[in-house]
Amino acid sequence: MDNYTDLSNMIDPELKVSDQNDHIEEEKFLNNPIVTVGPVTKQYLKSVKNYVTDGNRFVFSDGSSKVQISVISDEIIRVRMAPQGTFLADFSYALQEFAHEITSVVIKETPHEYLISTPKVTCSIAKETFLISFLDEKGRVMNEDARPMHYEENVQFGGYYVYCSKVCTDTEDFYAMGDKPTEFNLRGKRLVLWNTDTYAFAKNQDPLYRSIPFYIGLNEGRSYGIFSDNTFKTHYDFAVERKDRTSFWSDGGELNYYYIHGPQMIDVVKRYSHLTGTHAMPPMWALGFHQCRWSYYPDQKVKSIARTFREKKIPCDAIYLDIDYMNGYRCFTWNNTYFPNPKQMLDGLQDIGFKTVVIIDPGIKVDDNYWVFKEGKANNYFCRRCDDYFMEGNVWPGRCQFPDFTNPKVRTWWGGLFKELVETGVDGVWNDMNEPAVFGSGSFPDDVRHNFDHHRGSHRKAHNVYGMQMVRATYEGLSKLQKNKRPFTITRAGYSGVQRYSSVWTGDNVASWEHLKLANIMCQRLSISGISFCGTDIGGFTGEPDGELFTRWIQLGVFTPLMRAHSAGDTREREPWSFGEPYETICRKFIELRYKLLPYLYSAFWQHHKYHLPVVRPVVMLEPEIHINHYREDEFTFGEKILVCPILEAGAVNRKVYLPNGTWYNYWTQQKYKGGKEFVISSPLDSMPIFVKAGSVIPEAPVMQYVGEFEPEVMFLKTWYTDKEATSLLYEDHGDTFAYKQDIYLEKTFRVKGSNGSFTMEQKMEGLYTPRYEKYQHTIYGLPFKVRHIEVDGVEIKRFAIDEQGVLEFSSTKKFKKIEVLA
Ligand code: GLC
Repeated sequence: MDNYTDLSNMIDPELKVSDQNDHIEEEKFLNNPIVTVGPVTKQYLKSVKNYVTDGNRFVFSDGSSKVQISVISDEIIRVRMAPQGTFLADFSYALQEFAHEITSVVIKETPHEYLISTPKVTCSIAKETFLISFLDEKGRVMNEDARPMHYEENVQFGGYYVYCSKVCTDTEDFYAMGDKPTEFNLRGKRLVLWNTDTYAFAKNQDPLYRSIPFYIGLNEGRSYGIFSDNTFKTHYDFAVERKDRTSFWSDGGELNYYYIHGPQMIDVVKRYSHLTGTHAMPPMWALGFHQCRWSYYPDQKVKSIARTFREKKIPCDAIYLDIDYMNGYRCFTWNNTYFPNPKQMLDGLQDIGFKTVVIIDPGIKVDDNYWVFKEGKANNYFCRRCDDYFMEGNVWPGRCQFPDFTNPKVRTWWGGLFKELVETGVDGVWNDMNEPAVFGSGSFPDDVRHNFDHHRGSHRKAHNVYGMQMVRATYEGLSKLQKNKRPFTITRAGYSGVQRYSSVWTGDNVASWEHLKLANIMCQRLSISGISFCGTDIGGFTGEPDGELFTRWIQLGVFTPLMRAHSAGDTREREPWSFGEPYETICRKFIELRYKLLPYLYSAFWQHHKYHLPVVRPVVMLEPEIHINHYREDEFTFGEKILVCPILEAGAVNRKVYLPNGTWYNYWTQQKYKGGKEFVISSPLDSMPIFVKAGSVIPEAPVMQYVGEFEPEVMFLKTWYTDKEATSLLYEDHGDTFAYKQDIYLEKTFRVKGSNGSFTMEQKMEGLYTPRYEKYQHTIYGLPFKVRHIEVDGVEIKRFAIDEQGVLEFSSTKKFKKIEVLA
C-alpha cells in the first residue's frame, strides 16, 4: 500500500478555483470573521499515499494530513481528520460508554479506491481525490463528499478551521439539529451552533440555547445521520450556497464526525442515541403537570397557588421557585423575608402532593461574606481569563464569577452544594442562564480558560458544553444526595448527550400563535435529536396570551414530554384558571387527559430509555416516502400509537389532518378512518384531533390530582380493534427509585389479533415488579361483530357490557395470558 502512486495532479482543476468561492461564502457567514493574513490558506486533502490499519481503525495519509476511519458498529463509521498528521487526544463529552457491535470489517483495494465494509455499510475512500462516501449494502450511495475535507490555519488562536462538504441531491431533505425555531425540514437553511441566551427569540433566529451537531439526511425514503462531535462554534449550510451541497465547518478542534446508517429514520435516531445516550427513567411525578412563574413569592403565594390547584381539582405535581426565593440572587440561599421557614413551606407543599423545583444559575455573586463564593475562591474553582484574571460578569446577583464545570473537581463540589436544599425538601433543580449568559457581553470572552476534563481549552472549545457540564454536576450531586431517588433536572443550555443528565425546555418564547407553532416543531426536532424529555413554556414566557391561546397551548402541552406552564414576571397571572370559563374547564379536561395517559407516557419513556426510541415522532419518520403535499410538519405521534394534530390557529374550529397509512380511530368519537389521505376534523376549543392506531392497547390510569395520590385499584386497558396483528407495551415500576436498574420492573407486551368473528389479546410479562392493583378494566372499541362469548384463559366470563356503538367493557385479572372475544 505504501508504494501507491501519487495522483494528486489528477485533482479536478475546477476544485482549486472553487476554493476561493467557498472561502468567501463561508467567511461571510461567520459571526467572528476569521482573521486571515495574506492569501487564502485553505488546504484540501490531496491524494491518498498510504494507509495503516489497527483493528477496526484505518489511518490514511496524503503525505502530511491523516484521516482515521473507524468502524464503531455495523451501521456507524467514524471519520477524523488531523491536518498535520497528529490526532488530538480522543475525548468526548457527548459520547456515553457504548458497546462496539461489529459483526465483521473487511478492507478491499481497487484501482481507484479503498473500500471498508461491514455487513451493512461500505465506506469508500477515493485514492486520487481523498473523497469519502458511504454506501448501503446494495452499493447505493447514501452520502458522499463533494470536496475533499479541508482546513485552514487559525493564525489568531492556533489550530485549524476544519471543513467538510457533502453532495446534496435534488431530492434530499434535512432534519434534527436540536432546537432551531424554523421549518422542520432544514433544507435551505444556514445554521450556527453557539449556545446563546435569546430572550423572546424570533422565528428563524439562530443560534439559540443548545448545540446539537447532528443532522439526518432523507433521500427518497432512505435516511442517514451525520453527527459531528466538535464543541467549537460550528456552522451548517444545507444547500443554501450551492443547491448541490451541504457543508459543515468548525472554528477549531478536529473534524470528527460519525456517519450513522438508517435506512429508516427511526434507526438513525436510535443509533445516535446509542452513541450519546438516553434519558434515565424520570420520576413518574416529573411527567405530571408543572406550574412555574417568575416568581412565586412570598411563601404564602406559593402555598395559595398550590392550594388553588387542589381546590379547583386541576391536577398538578410540581411548583417552581424562580430566582426571587434566594437572598439577593445568591445561589443556595433563601430570602428570609419572603421565606422565613422554607422547610415548613416545603413540608406543607409535600403534604398536599406538590414537589418543589428550585432554580440555580451558574453566576456566583462576588461577595466575601457568602459561603459559596468563599469556597469557590479558596479552592480556585472559578473560571479565569488567559492572563489569569477571574472571569467576571454581571448576571442577576450583580458582579459574579463562574465555576468551571468542565473541571471534575468543580463538578463534585457543585453537586455537594445541594445538600441543604435537598435536606430542606427540594425535589428538583432547574439550571438556567448556563449558555453561559452574561448581561451586556452576552457570554464569556473567547480567552477564558477551561479544564475540559484535563484536556484544557479556551472558551471557544468549552462554550457549547458549559451548560451541559453544569447540569451534569447538578444531576450527579442530586443522585448522591437523594439516595435511591431519581433526580429531576431541567436545563436551558446543552450539547449532544445532555439528555443523560436532564430534561430541557426551549427557553424564553413568546405568547403568540406563531410561537405555539414553533413550540410544536421545536419539540419534534429536539426529540429526534436525542432529547426526548423536552417542553416549552406553556402560554409563552413573555407577552400576554388570551384564554384561547393558553388553552390550545395546554392541549399541545399534554403531548410534550415535559408539561410546564411558565411566564415572565411582568405578565398577568398565568395559571390554568387565570382566564376564567370556559378555559378553566377545558384546561382541566386536558390536564386530566395527561394524567390518564401517564402509564402510556411512562411506557414510551421506557421505550426511549431502553430501546432508544424517541417519545415524540414526526410524521415523516413514520412515512418517509409520503408525498410532499401530504406531509404536515405540525403532526406527530406521541409514543408509538397516538397521532396528535394540535390546533395552532386562532379561532379554528376544525383542521385538516393527514392520517398516515393504516386504520386510525378518533380518540374522542371512535370514528374509524382509512389513512393515507387528508380529512377535515372538527375541533372546537374543548377538543383537539387525536387518533389512535388500530390494534393499539393504551393503558390509562384513573385521574389523580398528583402522582401517588392514591393506589389505583385497576388499570384501564383501552384497545382498538384491528383485523391484523399488533403489539403494544406497558411498562411499570416503583416510579421513583433506581430499582428498575436491578430488573425490578415489569414489561408487558400485548399482542392483539382480529379475524372473522374473533378478537384475541395475549399478554407476556417480563421483570420482577408487582403492581399493587389486581385488575384490568378493558374497553374494546371498533369490534366489527356482535360479541356473544368472552374467555379469559379458557374460562368464560359472563359479566360484560356492550353499548349502542358496540363498545365492549369487561374486567380481567392483571395476570391473564389470553383473552378471546367471539361472535
Ligand atoms: C431566564 C429564563 C426564565 C426565567 C428567568 C428568571 O429568562 O429563561 O425561564 O424565568 O430567567 O430566572
